[in-house]
Amino acid sequence: MERPGGWSRRAGLAALLTVVPPPATVVGMSRADLDKRPRDVAAMFDQIAERYDLVNDVLSVGQDRLWRRFVAATVAAKAGERVLDLAAGTGTSSRTFTAAGAYCIACDFSFGMLQVGARKAANGGQPERPGAGPVRFVAGDALRLPFADASFDAVTRPGGRLVICEFGHLQPPALDAFYGRYLATALPAVAKRLSPASEAYAYLAESIKDWPRQAELARRMGDAGWTAIRWRNLTLGVVAVHVARRAE
Ligand SMILES: C[S@@+](CC[C@H](N)C(=O)[O-])C[C@H]1O[C@@H](n2cnc3c(N)ncnc32)[C@H](O)[C@@H]1O
Repeated sequence: MERPGGWSRRAGLAALLTVVPPPATVVGMSRADLDKRPRDVAAMFDQIAERYDLVNDVLSVGQDRLWRRFVAATVAAKAGERVLDLAAGTGTSSRTFTAAGAYCIACDFSFGMLQVGARKAANGGQPERPGAGPVRFVAGDALRLPFADASFDAVTRPGGRLVICEFGHLQPPALDAFYGRYLATALPAVAKRLSPASEAYAYLAESIKDWPRQAELARRMGDAGWTAIRWRNLTLGVVAVHVARRAE
């Protein structure tokens, strides 16, 4: 695992941002539980790191693999480009960006997640394909990025692209309400059987509910100065992929 150093600017840099949503209120959890300090959130992810990828596959019924494939195709990182995968967890997403020879930094503030990812990579659990670029694991908080400004061109260089893959809200509202009940009840219950720290999944469910709707997120991205904003819903909007470009 690496501590960040200064990187030089480079043309063609791609940035991927997976944003972790802020919290709200659910069954069995109070707002106070969810207004965790970054250290506490990281500790929660440390606890579920070991079985994180397995639980992901089970809870999403394998859809997570399709979502990752779609995000990788959207990022379309070319050889020599540098991709920043923020909130990268165990780096499963990061590896999908390097197939054509791009270089990916998997950044996360959970040491546990990074350690599992680094260990799997070292043990050949996530082999790099021939010609694939490297993935490097770096500890860092997305809200206080440990990279110099404009180093990826952080985040990202003028003309660089931003791809946000996050849980979304379903249409119509009745379907979203049903999904909300799944998140609040079934998801933590299944996670409890598979993972030692099901609290993290209750937190995840709550944070998904609190995350802005797709149009609202696009509006906020525009307010933050991103251009050419568009999004695509996957699996009826369970996941939404927003794409934008930083003005030249
Ligand atoms: C649901 S996991 C997603 C992991 C990965 N992107 C994937 O596709 O499997 C969320 C990750 O975000 C990380 N995270 C949450 N808030 C963060 C922050 N402020 N800075 C860095 N990482 C953060 C957590 O530690 C966790 O590993």
